[in-house]
Amino acid sequence: MVIMKVGGLNARLSYVIIAAAFGSAFQHGFNLGVINAPLKLIGDWMNTTSYDRSEMYLTETEKTMIISIMVSIYCIGGMIGGALTGFFAERFGRKGGLLLNNIFAILAAVLFGFCKMAHSYEMLIAGRFVIGINNGLNAGLCPMYLSEIAPVNLRGAIGTAYQLVLTISILFSQIMGLESILGTMDLWPILLALTGLPAIFQLAALPVCPESPKFLLITKDEPVAAQRALTWLRDTANVHDEMGEMRNEAEASKLVPSVSLREILTNPTLRIPLVISLMMMMAQQLSGINAVIFFSTEIYKSAGLSEEAALNATIAMGTMNVLMTFASLVMVEKFGRKTLMLAGLSGMLVDVFLLFICLLLKDVASWISYLSIFLVIFFVVMFATGPGSIPWFFVTELFAQNARPTASSIAVAVNWTAAFFVGLGFLPLQELTGPYVFLIFVALLAGFIVFTWFKVPETKGRTIDEITAVFKQTAYGANSV
Ligand SMILES: *[C@@H]1O[C@H](CO)[C@@H](O)[C@H](O)[C@H]1NC(C)=O
Repeated sequence: MVIMKVGGLNARLSYVIIAAAFGSAFQHGFNLGVINAPLKLIGDWMNTTSYDRSEMYLTETEKTMIISIMVSIYCIGGMIGGALTGFFAERFGRKGGLLLNNIFAILAAVLFGFCKMAHSYEMLIAGRFVIGINNGLNAGLCPMYLSEIAPVNLRGAIGTAYQLVLTISILFSQIMGLESILGTMDLWPILLALTGLPAIFQLAALPVCPESPKFLLITKDEPVAAQRALTWLRDTANVHDEMGEMRNEAEASKLVPSVSLREILTNPTLRIPLVISLMMMMAQQLSGINAVIFFSTEIYKSAGLSEEAALNATIAMGTMNVLMTFASLVMVEKFGRKTLMLAGLSGMLVDVFLLFICLLLKDVASWISYLSIFLVIFFVVMFATGPGSIPWFFVTELFAQNARPTASSIAVAVNWTAAFFVGLGFLPLQELTGPYVFLIFVALLAGFIVFTWFKVPETKGRTIDEITAVFKQTAYGANSV
């Protein structure tokens, strides 16, 4: 029995992880990263397209506006997709939802691929919206599926696979966007349309994988199918213990088969884990990661790096992100979620404070600029330690089956909303305050550290039953969030 608890990763399970994560997280990371490199080319194309259509060039303001719409509509799509997670997960299943979601990716790829030919930047904007919906759904469905098929002792590591693939695909998109590859005026539509490939991959690879056994047993009440799925995944007929655990969870949720939005907000045993999930999602987005990445170009420039060296530094940063996320995949089962969140957030806090000082003093000595480059990369490393990966699957660990879809919907939608506001607010704030904008992140990080320290429970190695029991105790004890 002990042996059964320790192992767990077999060839079949690895195959399912690859089919799910490469098909889904890849979309998410790729589309996060892909738009940056060709943004100027796309702006120029919009300008000439406008002239072709109406013999009028765009003004600088019009161009900025169209580009802002294109960039922000992606986040709005993400919020909608995130909010749809619960509906998709319940109606079509976790695997079914993931498969269906590929329709959005293929539609977007077609819009991207042909927008230039059709002289239509409306198509490009529509494509960004549609792929946003796809990415939002993936961010909810994929960690849910992974977490539900994972054995307890590997749940964190398998959940981290989502962020690992995401960082790999950001890096991939940056490399493909290089001018020597696809980052040219002729080829950028192909660059964007590459997002169709992971969809085709998933449509080919995922159908042979089983549906989540928890979904089959608890939501659909099909014990035979659930046992068959579990037997396939574990590659052994000896799944008695795990079936028993799932039956307990099923018994517990018989009274309330599916938790509504209203219930999750009013019932304290659900509200506490919801608040925790939302705080973790916000910690990820409001930690300043996007601001620091955005600032990195300017930091490299002020350190006197050539354009090419700056590009290399960006690729180095992406590589560190991948390597460190991989390390966190191993560490998350050893040290636990809470420890890694705290370590990552604390490292980011110290780092961003030093970065702020370096930016203030950057004209004093040239070595300070080099120190800032190091700090930017170290910030990304600290992010990857925990805050980058843990929030995605943490929400799936805090809720039992009946509340998980609704909770994921809310959490993923909040994540995208936070990203949207950071994207919208950072530049104006930075223009207003200069480097002082980083002090906002220092304050936010401090708040998230205190919250994590006092309110977040450790979920490593615990069954969902054990975790939800903690919240019942907290809710009906003296303590509450
Ligand atoms: C649009 O293109 C024209 C002609 O190349 C150029 O003069 C103008 O500055 C461009 N406008 C913008 C907003 O880029």
